[in-house]
Amino acid sequence: MTAPSSIVVLTGAGVSAESGVDTFRDKGGIWSKADYREVATPEGFARNPAKVHEFYNLRRRRLVGIRPNAAHFALARLEAAFGGAFLLVTQNVDSLHEAAGSRKLIHMHGRHDSALCMHCGQRSPWTGDMSLETPCPVCEATGGVRPDVVWFGEMPYRMDEIYRALRACDLFVSIGTSGTVYPAAQSVRDAQAAGARTVELNLEPSEKADAFDEAFHGPATEIVPAFVGRLLSP
Ligand code: APR
Repeated sequence: MTAPSSIVVLTGAGVSAESGVDTFRDKGGIWSKADYREVATPEGFARNPAKVHEFYNLRRRRLVGIRPNAAHFALARLEAAFGGAFLLVTQNVDSLHEAAGSRKLIHMHGRHDSALCMHCGQRSPWTGDMSLETPCPVCEATGGVRPDVVWFGEMPYRMDEIYRALRACDLFVSIGTSGTVYPAAQSVRDAQAAGARTVELNLEPSEKADAFDEAFHGPATEIVPAFVGRLLSP
């Protein structure tokens, strides 16, 4: 197998699961305890902004103190050691990839440590709770600050860059995602159309498992470092 010259990695909630971050669709996951239509859509926010703010305040509090795991560190090692083009696209809103040292990174679904003002459109670094009374750190208006995360029905961030990278890559690796949410779930097809080899690393076969050329199943903290090790010393 020839060494790749351009790698795109897509991660989902499964890469952070062993750091103690809840996934969405596993048993007992986030969407088994909250209705995404009420807390993760623009319509839900318009209907009951306080409920949406409380949902994200709770999630933001649960992310305090979490640490990157061996899978995050392995991906940072791959980025640093790989001589070719590299892009890590994450669906996750936690900042564990950055904490592990990843830099060539796109948060396509936004991030929990950022606030977006609907009045001025500015983003600001954010920790702590948020509410309708929260003034925007930039324009100081209240009533318009929201979590800087992409809700269902909204366009994920920086899709042009992601599509360009997928069309140029010769290795696409999907890690810890159920492959149920678009456009992220389309990535494997986009990479294949560009002639890339596609690999799934997941606890168990995802909904898109059959679309991949190869698959390795098990906990991310085991299979990701092993995969990166083989990639860096073929
Ligand atoms: N190691 C590897 N994979 C794991 C682990 C683990 N320790 N634990 C769980 N997984 C896998 C599960 O098997 C599942 O396939 O991670 C995947 C998590 O799937 P989801 O919970 O659906 O999360 P994700 O795919 O990231 O969801 C995509 O949906 O709700 C939206 O915006 C939200 O970004 C999220 C998007």
